[in-house]
Amino acid sequence: MSTERHYEREFVRTFFTSPTAVKGEEDSAKMIRSAAQLRGMQAPDVWVPDNEDATAPNMRDEGARNVAEVVAEHGAEFPGEIHPRVVWHRDSPGTRYRGFQHMLEIADPDNGAVEHIDGFVIPEVGDVDDWKKADEFITVVEHEHGLEAGSLSMSVIVESGEAELAMGDLREEMGKPSNNLERLFLLVDGEVDYTKDMRAMTPTGELPPWPELRHNTSRGASAAGLIAVDGPYDDIRDVEGYRERMVDNRAKGMTGIWSLTPGQVVEANTSPLPPESGSWLVEVDGEDVDLDEDEDGRQVYEGDDLGLEETADGYVLRVGSDEQELDAEELHEELADMASYVPSMDDIVNSMEEFEAAKEAGRGAIAMTQSATVVIDGVEVEVSRDRMWDEATYQAAQTPINLFQDVYEHRPDQHEELAEMYGADVVERAMDVGN
Ligand SMILES: CC(C)(COP(=O)(O)OP(=O)(O)OC[C@H]1O[C@@H](n2cnc3c(N)ncnc32)[C@H](O)[C@@H]1OP(=O)(O)O)[C@@H](O)C(=O)NCCC(=O)NCCS
Repeated sequence: MSTERHYEREFVRTFFTSPTAVKGEEDSAKMIRSAAQLRGMQAPDVWVPDNEDATAPNMRDEGARNVAEVVAEHGAEFPGEIHPRVVWHRDSPGTRYRGFQHMLEIADPDNGAVEHIDGFVIPEVGDVDDWKKADEFITVVEHEHGLEAGSLSMSVIVESGEAELAMGDLREEMGKPSNNLERLFLLVDGEVDYTKDMRAMTPTGELPPWPELRHNTSRGASAAGLIAVDGPYDDIRDVEGYRERMVDNRAKGMTGIWSLTPGQVVEANTSPLPPESGSWLVEVDGEDVDLDEDEDGRQVYEGDDLGLEETADGYVLRVGSDEQELDAEELHEELADMASYVPSMDDIVNSMEEFEAAKEAGRGAIAMTQSATVVIDGVEVEVSRDRMWDEATYQAAQTPINLFQDVYEHRPDQHEELAEMYGADVVERAMDVGN
């Protein structure tokens, strides 16, 4: 039996925190009030009114009241899930007690918010016994307010070595009769506090990228049927860097990322969706370079690091400062090695449909060909790559389609933007394929 999941969403692209109370504003709830009204690509999959680090400590009691009030008013129309973050600390009973009080307030049915609250986010957890304390507090909140047991989910911020190790215990601990850890939903990295906890140092003071933590979180989520989310990217105007981080995360199976601003939400909602059109890349000295499609559909290399010249007895290909003399076949092979194709949503759907038809016709493996005319220094070369597709390739290709289907099913407010991106026909076929 595969690992069971206990929640609706299979993927979460965006985890968006908003300060719950800001001093000096006429309405201290201004930021959560506007965030609650975001829609479409601007609205996150998971919205986190943040009564912890985003809110000043002396504003947090007011913050908890604001969350209850704003969610009561706008929660029913909000298109994503709502998971407030409360204070918690593995080393501080006082902080844990305060977080408990805030959960009691936010979940009090008299305040009218709890029917729109999907769960709570617990920061600064320690070992798995500490996770169980938070879980027990949520059980007590449910009991106190007459809510169904297990109806509030729990997500944690992994920001200590202890919590990182605890992820290895989850598969065994979840489902024991003495806890309700099945309520777990997201495992979210918190690299800033993790860096402090690990006593890590870098010469510039910048955060280490912590690929190991992200890998371990993704692995922990996979083993326990949960969802992994990367932490905040605080260089909030560096869109390219944020995108690169997401590409790196997705190669580890971590689809979700924290968003600090509405601009980051749009980026993080869009980035994991397959592209609208396909594109070719060439790898030059370890770097991927995009080729530009011209009006004849040829793929043109525009950089300086590659050169190609036709000579009397073949070709001279230059990569950086290395030149090689090649005949037509060798050139074709060399370029086929350097080039790769990034499939569009339409391509993925086509390939899956083609494989489904082949399977139906009794074939377990087929060759899929991808070809292009590549132009370097005005010289044209035909490049084609054959890739073997079998059931395993098919299933791996399905991940972006599963993601799309999950988004489409749960976010009707994004249907219009998705149809505009891909066209209604591709959307319809993408919803059909693989089922
Ligand atoms: C970092 C921050 C102060 C930058 O604010 P900014 O410079 O105003 O950011 P932008 O220009 O992108 O904001 C555009 C609008 O969205 C609002 N906004 C920005 N971030 C928001 C957030 N996280 N939640 C709700 N609204 C937000 C801004 O108030 C602004 O609204 P306005 O046009 O009515 O003034 C702000 O984004 C923020 O407080 N983010 C949350 C921080 C957080 O969650 N920290 C905890 C993580 S450990």
